[in-house]
Amino acid sequence: MSDRYIDFANSSIGHRLVGALGLPSPVRLERWQAGRLRPVEGALLIGGGPLAERISRFANRLTDGIYRYGEQPASASEWIAGHGPKLKAVVFDASELQHTDQLKQLREFFQPLMKNLESSAHLVILGRAPETLREPFAASAQRALEGFSRSLAKELRSGGTLQLIYVGEGAEDQLEGPLRFFLSPKSAFVSGQVIRLTACATPVTDWTRPLAGRKALVTGAARGIGASIAETLARDGAEVILLDVPPAKTELEALAARLGGRAITLDICAEDAASQLIEQLPDGLDILVHNAGITRDKTLANMTPEFWDAVLAVNLNAPQVLTKALLDNGTLHDNARVVLLASISGIAGNRGQTNYAASKAGLIGLAQAWAPTLLERGISINAVAPGFIETQMTAHIPFGLREAGRRMSSLGQGGLPQDVAEAVAWLAQPGTGAFTGQALRVCGQSVLGA
Ligand SMILES: NC(=O)c1ccc[n+]([C@@H]2O[C@H](COP(=O)([O-])OP(=O)(O)OC[C@H]3O[C@@H](n4cnc5c(N)ncnc54)[C@H](O)[C@@H]3O)[C@@H](O)[C@H]2O)c1
Repeated sequence: MSDRYIDFANSSIGHRLVGALGLPSPVRLERWQAGRLRPVEGALLIGGGPLAERISRFANRLTDGIYRYGEQPASASEWIAGHGPKLKAVVFDASELQHTDQLKQLREFFQPLMKNLESSAHLVILGRAPETLREPFAASAQRALEGFSRSLAKELRSGGTLQLIYVGEGAEDQLEGPLRFFLSPKSAFVSGQVIRLTACATPVTDWTRPLAGRKALVTGAARGIGASIAETLARDGAEVILLDVPPAKTELEALAARLGGRAITLDICAEDAASQLIEQLPDGLDILVHNAGITRDKTLANMTPEFWDAVLAVNLNAPQVLTKALLDNGTLHDNARVVLLASISGIAGNRGQTNYAASKAGLIGLAQAWAPTLLERGISINAVAPGFIETQMTAHIPFGLREAGRRMSSLGQGGLPQDVAEAVAWLAQPGTGAFTGQALRVCGQSVLGA
């Protein structure tokens, strides 16, 4: 469903009116287009501690325009506020900030560039996870990065985003994958997130087709977010298998044919769903995306047992049962990637969605609890928690609530299925293996549950 308010706010009359009335003024976000090669089209500023030098080793694969602010990295041209170009991407290594006094480096680095950002600019701060630091003042300084980055993300205008990545020991050489995602339009609708990255043994070898040679199953793939996930995984080189309910057969088969993939019509809640699936996947799987999901909204006072049971069965029980069966019988290969489609409702709660929010929170808990055991086989399991995404599911929300859902975020608009799909595709990469047990929000920094 199109967002008419964005069209209006970006028209010449609308722009003036929205500004005069102090209304939200969302911009059209820049998104990744087919055929694009470089993650950053514009100037990239790198600064801060020693990780800046590491990033400079591969920065020329991200963009042609590399700048430094201060000493690091020595190889780049210096960026001077008011003289340098407007910035499309920024990385600041704050991993060595250990005292309160050193935190002023954040202000010194970011303040001059706040008025020198291009639209849809992407910013990343690097740090060390506080819980891994023994020295309390150092841990406190690193935790301070979280408050700083979440607040600065809210101050960005014109579609800008900012994330904090805590870089674990041994993961310092694995920043190219995350930066390709978080500095590019692939993460257009992700902002204000805190990501923990640890070392991973399996690198990506071909950045143009990072999923080449991998078999991926996407449930609920006939339409909406699932269809977009299947398209994006296929774009990135995966062999895709699309699953949906029998009534969606025609759309499902058409999409599978277009993507050179295969269609499976199956109700994931069927009693024999696991055995049917195993039978249809004789060559096993490397990527499993549990996207199929339903809503049956009612306040708890009016919730019927049927509504409750249906939501819990599709959204939570089926992913649990199917994943376990595919793991136990070896269909899910070692080093596989499992992605569960949760929701910010599962984080923030939502009136009229006790059943849905319980199921989605359950998925986040499942990823968290299962991650350590699965990591022994090199398998990662993560949740992606979308906020308001423009699909048939959200088109059915009453007008007032729909508008509130769209505007109550730093980016002031709903996301597109492509935004969720890009996050799933990043989590599906071999090099993202040790990013596990986490929930990545794709919500434009929604105020709900933030
Ligand atoms: N749209 C949003 O704003 C939003 C926000 C947060 C989370 N999500 C989650 O993202 C996922 C996709 O959402 P969407 O908006 O694209 O939904 P959608 O309703 O457009 O698509 C869901 C798909 O799942 C399929 N499906 C439902 N039950 C099934 C079953 N028993 N077996 C097999 N397939 C089944 C449907 O046929 C449909 O094709 C869902 O898990 C949803 O909860 C969506």
